[in-house]
Amino acid sequence: MNFSEQELALGRKIIETCLHLERRGLNQGTSGNVSVRLGRNPKDGFLITPTAVPYDVMQPEDLVHMRFDGKHTGRHAPSSEWRIHLDILRSRPEVGAVIHTHSGFSTTLACLERRIPAFHYMIALFGGDDIRCSDYATFGTQELSDRVLKALKGRSAALMGNHGLIVLAPNLKRALALTVEAEMLAMMYWRAIQVSEPRILSDAEVARVRAKFSTYGKSAPPKG
Ligand code: 13P
Repeated sequence: MNFSEQELALGRKIIETCLHLERRGLNQGTSGNVSVRLGRNPKDGFLITPTAVPYDVMQPEDLVHMRFDGKHTGRHAPSSEWRIHLDILRSRPEVGAVIHTHSGFSTTLACLERRIPAFHYMIALFGGDDIRCSDYATFGTQELSDRVLKALKGRSAALMGNHGLIVLAPNLKRALALTVEAEMLAMMYWRAIQVSEPRILSDAEVARVRAKFSTYGKSAPPKG
């Protein structure tokens, strides 16, 4: 398949993101996957990492172009989790990029079937008062996609039962930043519960933080 310059450039960004995740210890080998929407027109489809190709040898030409009817072109098969990526990008027009990891602390909580509650105010970054944990289903199945989408309702992250973490954002840069934040929250929560049950913030407080986040970093610089 012939990729356009735009697709190759996006492919390079996706691989950079995968390598960044690997350097931070959030994914390794072939675990996890990444997709990015190609344009606002649903006909444009999206690029997704290929299945079973280690990140450290992945080339932009290895990425797979998928359409929303599930057809794909490229020299590899798409990630085994293409259904989750497709279902998210099709049903959530505000989402431009999806990152799935097997990062250690998120996955530990997911194996305990524990959601991350509002034990820290940064939970509000993810759309509500928790990061839910989906029920388990076999990797690469429609059942898993259905369960993950349910856990993601009104949220931009979910733990995947006995599996990992998934994060959504308007673009790839933001998705990477949110993945790092979600894993950090999972680490802090895991540490906290070794000692005791942390205090949980009220719904009203989470709502207040969400309102503050909507203007965070957007105000005019102070005068003078
Ligand atoms: P892929 O190599 O098929 O993307 O699978 C990795 C994975 O994490 C499955 O959940």
